[in-house]
Amino acid sequence: MDSLLIKGGKPLHGVVDISGAKNAVLPIMAATLLTPERCVIRNVPDLADVGMMERILTSMGASVQRDGGTLTVQASRISDKADYDLVRKMRGSICVLGPLLGRLHRATVSMPGGCVIGVRPIDLHLKGMRALGAEVKTMAGYVRVKSRRLVGAPVFLGGRAGPTVLGTANVMMAAVLAEGQTIIESAACEPEVTDLAKFLNAMGAKIAGAGGPTITITGVKQLHGAEHEVIPDRIEAATYAIAGVATRGEVTLRGARIEHLTAVIDKLRDMGVKVEGHAGGITFKRGRSLRPVDITTLPYPGFPTDVQAQMMTLLTLIPGISIITERIFEARFSHAAELLRLGADLAIEGPSAIIKGGSPLSGAPVMASDLRASAALVIAGLVAKGITQVNRIYHLDRGYEKIDAKLHGLGASVSRVAGS
Ligand code: EPU
Repeated sequence: MDSLLIKGGKPLHGVVDISGAKNAVLPIMAATLLTPERCVIRNVPDLADVGMMERILTSMGASVQRDGGTLTVQASRISDKADYDLVRKMRGSICVLGPLLGRLHRATVSMPGGCVIGVRPIDLHLKGMRALGAEVKTMAGYVRVKSRRLVGAPVFLGGRAGPTVLGTANVMMAAVLAEGQTIIESAACEPEVTDLAKFLNAMGAKIAGAGGPTITITGVKQLHGAEHEVIPDRIEAATYAIAGVATRGEVTLRGARIEHLTAVIDKLRDMGVKVEGHAGGITFKRGRSLRPVDITTLPYPGFPTDVQAQMMTLLTLIPGISIITERIFEARFSHAAELLRLGADLAIEGPSAIIKGGSPLSGAPVMASDLRASAALVIAGLVAKGITQVNRIYHLDRGYEKIDAKLHGLGASVSRVAGS
């Protein structure tokens, strides 16, 4: 597998264009299954996960065409079964369940397993489907849902760690074609959910309240084709902002939305980073000295779990003690051991990481088996003395469009090495 060779020590400077959001485009692609008519999605990032979702839609009978950042999908006739091997490779593909139930009243999708960041159950997704009248069975590695009629209902989607993002998306996509009204309480408020609701409304759905904790969906008989432009990726944006600060540089994010980054910007300002929004984007500049901070990951608008790893790298560089508490996923610290390998001083105590910042990092071969952990290691490599080889960058390609080219454009010394 490919790896990324990084020669550390160069401050990042310049402007980076932020791509369309991975976690918005995946459910939006799944939503195209709700209509036999043609849908056009713009600002689609070129990512391995998007390619995987294209294959899943194609395997179900949809025609999918890509022209640059524009994806045209037509799901004239579709099967109610998603390919086992394709679905189990990407957890995000569970969001085909809701549209299939909504349109066909039945679906068979492989049960997504846990992954390196946690157990990741789908009980809340299934609770929502049952509330709408579906019968749910899990057997032989599959989840099967079916219903003669789908009827709107009140659904409470709060779980152990708060609301569920893809669970909210799934229930919303099933409910748009149900009879009557569905009210989702404790809905996820993430901008990706709002973006999906916008697309569904453009298709003729009646959804109100997305972006808040109560979403009201009034079922309609059918949906039609629509066009949509995907929001910019707030996690990619935060990653480049942190990389800029960590390397003592100055980075401007072009196309990022400041209102989606409030919690991250607030923490960076607490640390002493200067953040300025302007017509050309958002610029992040390191102050003279940075202060340690404590961070707890929370559902939106709280600090995103998807930025926790990158922030950990930054905090290892700041003298003093910082504490990061991970409240969304129970095992999302796989980057910590690799940061130790680079010379960081930190310890994990239950859901918290205690970081004694200020030790110098020095390059080494590292590997992470999840996307954001890999991003954290890239940032560490950009700062570390000497050469860092980040192995298995397959994970980065799942969620960061052209990361080597973008970092190169900001002045980093990075090269991709083809692996076996
Ligand atoms: N949960 C349950 N039951 C459920 C569903 C979730 O207990 O039925 C728990 C999870 O185990 C977790 C918490 O609820 O503790 C939140 O999980 P959520 O369902 O919100 O996560 P997700 O929808 O599966 C999406 C993103 C993740 C991101 C999380 C949280 C996509 C494709 N994935 O996952 O993105 O971390 O929301 O914001 O949208 C990433 O991009 O690197 C990534 C992992």
